[in-house]
Amino acid sequence: MEIKKQSVLVMDFGGQYTQLIARRVRECNVYCEIKSYKTTAQEIKDGKYMGVIFTGGPNSAYDANGPKCDPEIFSLGIPVLGICYGAQLMAETLGGKVESISDNREYGKTKIEVNPSSLLFHRAKPESICWMSHTDRITEIPHGFKITAISKDCPVAAMEDNKRNFFGVQFHPEVEHTEQGQLYLRNFLYNACNCTAEWRMDSFVNDVIDSLKEKIGDKKVLCALSGGVDSSVAALMIHKAVGKQLTCIFVDHGLLRKNEGDEVESVFKEQFDMNIIRVNAKERFLTKLAGVSEPEKKRKIIGEEFIRVFEEESQKLGKIEYLCQGTIYPDVVESGAGESAVIKSHHNVGGLPEDIGFEGIIEPLRDLFKDEVRRAGLELGIPEFLVYRQPFPGPGLAVRIMGEVTEEKLEILADADAIMREEFASAGLDRTVNQYFAVLTGIKSVGVMGDGRTYDNTIALRAVTTSDFMTADWARVPYEVLEKISNRIINEVKNVNRIVYDITTKPPATIEWE
Ligand code: XMP
Repeated sequence: MEIKKQSVLVMDFGGQYTQLIARRVRECNVYCEIKSYKTTAQEIKDGKYMGVIFTGGPNSAYDANGPKCDPEIFSLGIPVLGICYGAQLMAETLGGKVESISDNREYGKTKIEVNPSSLLFHRAKPESICWMSHTDRITEIPHGFKITAISKDCPVAAMEDNKRNFFGVQFHPEVEHTEQGQLYLRNFLYNACNCTAEWRMDSFVNDVIDSLKEKIGDKKVLCALSGGVDSSVAALMIHKAVGKQLTCIFVDHGLLRKNEGDEVESVFKEQFDMNIIRVNAKERFLTKLAGVSEPEKKRKIIGEEFIRVFEEESQKLGKIEYLCQGTIYPDVVESGAGESAVIKSHHNVGGLPEDIGFEGIIEPLRDLFKDEVRRAGLELGIPEFLVYRQPFPGPGLAVRIMGEVTEEKLEILADADAIMREEFASAGLDRTVNQYFAVLTGIKSVGVMGDGRTYDNTIALRAVTTSDFMTADWARVPYEVLEKISNRIINEVKNVNRIVYDITTKPPATIEWE
């Protein structure tokens, strides 16, 4: 979809913050794309990029085998900002020198002094804190550059050539710990690249809807709606474009959270008058899951059954030309657009095979980061509880019930989980704790209730803070909140006599228990 007029290119040299840099640029309302460091000068010219950002990376700029950029990029007349490795590579390529810091590795929060007459540090505080993480440093700047920032251990914390609009920073402006990082990025984007703040979700949503109308014409589209943020926003965009030409199939496998199936159905059917087929397939899934306790086997059964139900339903609908997928930008990057390819550890249950017999796939969210998908959802009028829904695994509560999944266990877990979510919301923790849920541990233990001895289920509470779900810390939930949840579950949910709180980080544990 050719919707973006202005764009900046983030060239990925394998750094851990590549996607973060791109998100920060977008937060400045400037559209950007991530591509490999191998992108040539000609491709950059053809792409009409307004500026280029070189990311950090794990290599040394003086290492002959490390990733290099096409040197012609520096002859395009386009502004370039190099970050960490990117800055060192810029120095090395343009005739400067980079050396290893033998024993003085600079890591963490560092004070820098900046020259406010520099374009990058325009209106910046003369001294501020930034985030450093490097074992090499620039020791000689290339001809035409001047040093624009220093730190105690880094004689070239930043350099710039303001005639050619080349900038290099040793620190990471994209991370939160760099106090004025967003200002430096804005200066680069607005003052060096001459971008305007035109990347806005309201106009993007309208533009996508227009282009979907054109692309789909009078054809039909099918969407697997799960109630998750991505599939909801994608489906609604298509619905706004072509109305009832879109049919959504919502496979309710009976492993959803309490009331969730009804909530999803009512929002999309009643509020948006969408064409939704809800398939109540709980019996079918539970029959397949009977007697199965091995986690991977459970996941596999649910994934396969999901596809079977979806196929059966879609076959009843006659010819449908397009399939809608909720692919978002990190999926695109991670499947090969950048350098830092991450192997997806989860096969999403909503993921459908492509050979299911469609003329084409429609992916309205392909260009968006998750926070942008949320903003697009709000623009479209999707209720906040759906837009800010925490991630929920495709196989649902089945991976939070250790051992065999039964109707009775599902009920216990759904009730306990609902209480936990209610109490998190009323304590205001629902927006600060990234994911939280209850787990039916499969452990039974002895308790005492009234005068009698009990032998009943143990529920574990899991709550984590994380920015990327690859690593996570357990949330320091106030004792009072834990106490209230524990009391309520014991009193309100039958067959539970013990509550524990999971205090493991990821790694070594995962967020989910299975
Ligand atoms: P783990 O348990 O690996 O989970 O630390 C990381 C994140 O992924 C979610 N998750 C899934 N998401 N389909 C999904 O769409 C799945 O099968 C699946 N399994 C785990 C998990 O909830 C956490 O947010």
